Amino acid sequence: AVPVVAIDGPSASGKGTVAARVAEALGWHCLDSGSLYRLVALAAMRAGIALDDEAGVAAIAADLPARFENGLILLAGEDVSDAIRSETCSVGASKVAVLGQVREALLDRQRDYRIGPGLVAEGRDIGSVVFPDAGVKVFLTASAESRAERRYKQLMEKGMPANIQSLLKDLQERDARDAARPVAPLVKLPDAVLLDTTERSVDEAVAFVLDLVRA
Ligand code: CDP
Repeated sequence: AVPVVAIDGPSASGKGTVAARVAEALGWHCLDSGSLYRLVALAAMRAGIALDDEAGVAAIAADLPARFENGLILLAGEDVSDAIRSETCSVGASKVAVLGQVREALLDRQRDYRIGPGLVAEGRDIGSVVFPDAGVKVFLTASAESRAERRYKQLMEKGMPANIQSLLKDLQERDARDAARPVAPLVKLPDAVLLDTTERSVDEAVAFVLDLVRA
């Protein structure tokens, strides 16, 4: 079977950056599954469908006119790469992600990314439901304080005002919600390797995952 590296971890742990860099180093495909949930939320909101209307949102998910092209994320041909990162889409994504029919509707789409020479996939149930047979599973984490600090720096670099205390509070609340939710809760799988990046750079995290793949 085509090899898969599955990466999960809490919000703002850097799993997206690490997954993309590992995929690039290996020349493998990369799947950021969170962006699919963000796209579903955006498409549903635009279609005027309530985010708790399970069948309605699942219909959107089953027929999502989304494409990933040259580093851009397109919805019906429109570049929504920035739009899906908004707070509205983050909150919306976490709402649609608890709907079983929506998760089901996105399964085949995610599995279609498993094409040679390999796939690095990132997201909540990637190692448990989507690719349970992934050869390498990584649980990427860092202390809430250092995650808040990294997000703060990112926002400052983009010229977006931010408050580190409220970022920290948001992250801690999100962690608690993510761990407690009944569907696809945030957990470290028993067969996942723990990678704590509180004291590690992105380069070190990438090297650590590459060592696991090549071992
Ligand atoms: O890093 P963060 O969790 O804030 O964002 P994300 O990875 O883009 O995921 C957006 C939302 O979709 C979060 O609420 C995730 O918990 C959810 N999600 C999910 O339920 N399953 C996935 N495979 C990926 C994301």
